[in-house]
Amino acid sequence: MSHQSPNLHDLFVFSAQTGLHLLVVKQPNKMASWMVSTNIKIVLPFLFIALLLTMSIIHADRLESFNQGKPILIRNGLVVDEFNEHPNTDVLIVDGRILQVGQNLPMMQDVYIIDATGHIVIPGAIDPHCHISMPFMSTVTADDWQSASLAGLAGGTLTIFDFILPIDHSLTAGVEQWKKRVQEQGTLIDYSFHVAVTGIFGPKNPHPRNQTLCTLCEMYQITEDEGITSFKFFLAYKNALMIRDDDFLLGLQQCSQLGALALVHAENGDAVDKGIHDALAENCFAPKCHLRSRPSILEAEATNRAAILAQFADAALYVVHVQSKAAVEAISRVRHTYKRVVGEAVVSGFTLDERWLDTDDFDEASKYVMSPPFHLLDVDGVAIKEALAGEDSLQTIGTDHATFTKRQKRCVNELLNDCSQDKPQSFNRIPNGVNGIEERVAMTYDKLVHTKMISLSQFVRLISTNSAKLFGIYPQKGSLATGSDADVVIFDPNRKWTIDQAKQNIHPEVSNVFHGMHVQGKVLTSISRGEVLYENESFAPGVARLKSMTSSQKALFSRGKFIGREPFSSELYRDLARFKNNGEVYVDENGLLHIGKRIKHDEL
Ligand code: URP
Ligand code: ZN
Ligand code: ZN
Repeated sequence: MSHQSPNLHDLFVFSAQTGLHLLVVKQPNKMASWMVSTNIKIVLPFLFIALLLTMSIIHADRLESFNQGKPILIRNGLVVDEFNEHPNTDVLIVDGRILQVGQNLPMMQDVYIIDATGHIVIPGAIDPHCHISMPFMSTVTADDWQSASLAGLAGGTLTIFDFILPIDHSLTAGVEQWKKRVQEQGTLIDYSFHVAVTGIFGPKNPHPRNQTLCTLCEMYQITEDEGITSFKFFLAYKNALMIRDDDFLLGLQQCSQLGALALVHAENGDAVDKGIHDALAENCFAPKCHLRSRPSILEAEATNRAAILAQFADAALYVVHVQSKAAVEAISRVRHTYKRVVGEAVVSGFTLDERWLDTDDFDEASKYVMSPPFHLLDVDGVAIKEALAGEDSLQTIGTDHATFTKRQKRCVNELLNDCSQDKPQSFNRIPNGVNGIEERVAMTYDKLVHTKMISLSQFVRLISTNSAKLFGIYPQKGSLATGSDADVVIFDPNRKWTIDQAKQNIHPEVSNVFHGMHVQGKVLTSISRGEVLYENESFAPGVARLKSMTSSQKALFSRGKFIGREPFSSELYRDLARFKNNGEVYVDENGLLHIGKRIKHDEL
């Protein structure tokens, strides 16, 4: 690849051709010059009135929390952070942030007190992997931002990462649509985004309907301007989301240049496609045929390929939803020589068993259809738990929350598909995905802490801190340090309960894959940025009232914030300095954008 620096003229030609004006010429502050050129004395009173009006509208729509804006003192809990356990300790929260953690903190006037005696106090959990209202497999995932955030509050998850899909391969069009959707639906908890890249279009590979599309330029734009610094590549879902290997490599190189984290869905999509055709040809249509069409060797192959390509491109790679022992081993092997590759477990991978798909009850079997499939609890489940305990190959626990109602699992679209309610669709049409936002924290406690496989601080790291660090939102999230967002969860380690679909906060018609499971440990209270929205297993009055509102009314009470990120903020890039943006920007013959010269620490 020849990397000559083009002159300014070339760049303008390029940006004029693509319609993207990437040379960021700082715009003069239009507002400031307008203020100066206008009689400031006339304008200011109007601005002041407008500000007061806006504030009163915002206030009128504020969600009523238990503490009603008061500071919070959590007393006498076992406070657990990412480093240590602190018995009989208090946490003081003021103005939405952690102010102090210590023993016998002095009482303040007009403070909301929560007694945490006998309970564990931890940072709000972060789910790095969710699909909310996402169009997928001819349908849309059932949970919207409202039901997902209620489930988050009840389950102790106070920040979620959602996946943006491109619209006709345009990443920025996807970003706009996803932002609009959150606004329209309204969320109660904080969030951030990853953006999926499904193909690399640009001067060398023009998009058939959009000749100006420049995917690598969009990646640059999104990283710099949108506060989104992670891109997902699907190596599966052929003829839909799957990216070709050569494009994947370009995407990895761009991530490396931009200081963005590459995420990968690792399954060999071509081989899976063959597996599906072979199964159908042998009249294998039932949900269990999903398993034979995509065995774990195909997950391991793609995991290995992705990790090696990341090493070649010097990119940081995060393998999502690692579901098999073979894939864990693939990550671990590459990590001997290249540490910038880590994996994510999902709660289904160590709590569900593939043998449960082997039933003639379609509704029961189809609820477990997801990709990659989970496998044998006593083999793959154990390997995943051991890798989580080692916190090396696998460093986070997500959910891959992608839910569908029983009806969607039976037949996504009677017009489009060869199915009806009496004749369910074949396995390859069943929308892939399971639930988990509401259950992840308690299930992790039950399967890993209660069984003494991990310590309480590891629990905090796996469900919260490690995601915050890997995705660059630490210590704002994932921490109980002074100044961190006051996302705090109070957890009862002794509480025994049974997961009941009838009581779930996610979409009521989603068949819960954890229904009927007995669990030790339960989330009691969730505090999001200093607001007690769930306490002693009940929603705050404002939240409870939302349930009877229309969608547009609910949206007015949206309070969740987008958490923006900086390039090179990931823990995986710790050893690299931010590239020196000296204005040198050029595009090579592949349309790959080069920004300045990245300097390694040892060269500084
Ligand atoms: O089955 C799954 N995992 N559904 C959601 C989409 C994805 O692959 O992450
Ligand atoms: Zn995936
Ligand atoms: Zn997913």
